[in-house]
Amino acid sequence: MKKFVLCITGASGVIYGVRTLEVLHPEFDLDVVISSTAKVVLKEELGLVQEDLEKRFPRARFWNEKDFTAPIASGSTLKLYEAVFVIPCSTGTLGCVAGGVNINLIHRVCEVALKERVKLVMVVREAPYSLIHLENMVKLTKAGAVIVPASPAFYHGPKTVDDLINFVVGKVLDQVGLDHSLFKRWKEGRL
Ligand SMILES: Cc1cc2nc3c(=O)[nH]c(=O)nc-3n(C[C@H](O)[C@H](O)[C@H](O)COP(=O)(O)O)c2cc1C
Repeated sequence: MKKFVLCITGASGVIYGVRTLEVLHPEFDLDVVISSTAKVVLKEELGLVQEDLEKRFPRARFWNEKDFTAPIASGSTLKLYEAVFVIPCSTGTLGCVAGGVNINLIHRVCEVALKERVKLVMVVREAPYSLIHLENMVKLTKAGAVIVPASPAFYHGPKTVDDLINFVVGKVLDQVGLDHSLFKRWKEGRL
């Protein structure tokens, strides 16, 4: 069974992380880390607390952001994983990872993913971007991460907010070659 780490940080759009969980659970082996600020945003945007997600996704392992003893903090374990997703990714987490600073488990997992060459996909959400944000994205791209902006497209004819969410999540799954039908590809069904 393929293994993934899913990190949810305190940017707007925690629904992207929750939708990714819905798509991957229970088919895949999942470790989940939700930052303390993400918990605030989870309550604010979706009216949910972490325990709600733990009940909804019982096969996933949830880790405290301060638990550096989690197996996923170690390269020998993370090497067995297909990818680490940070969805959504705040500019704070972006900056910590770009600077090699490990304040929480999410930063550490990202650092380990980069050093072990495990795929790292960061769905950054902020508007507008400062030069610092852009430089951090360049730095992380050079280090091997893939930056997927939380910006849905409109060429697939979205009708609902769900369609927009699914587009971004589908783009993330594309990065790891997971088959999905979250959005219609360009000209799909029109040829
Ligand atoms: C409701 C709410 C929405 C936020 N939205 C964003 C956002 O879209 N992007 C961002 O970079 N930070 C956003 N922030 C600020 C981050 O949560 C803050 O920088 C925090 O330190 C990030 O920590 P984390 O990366 O450990 O979750 C938001 C905060 C709150 C409370």
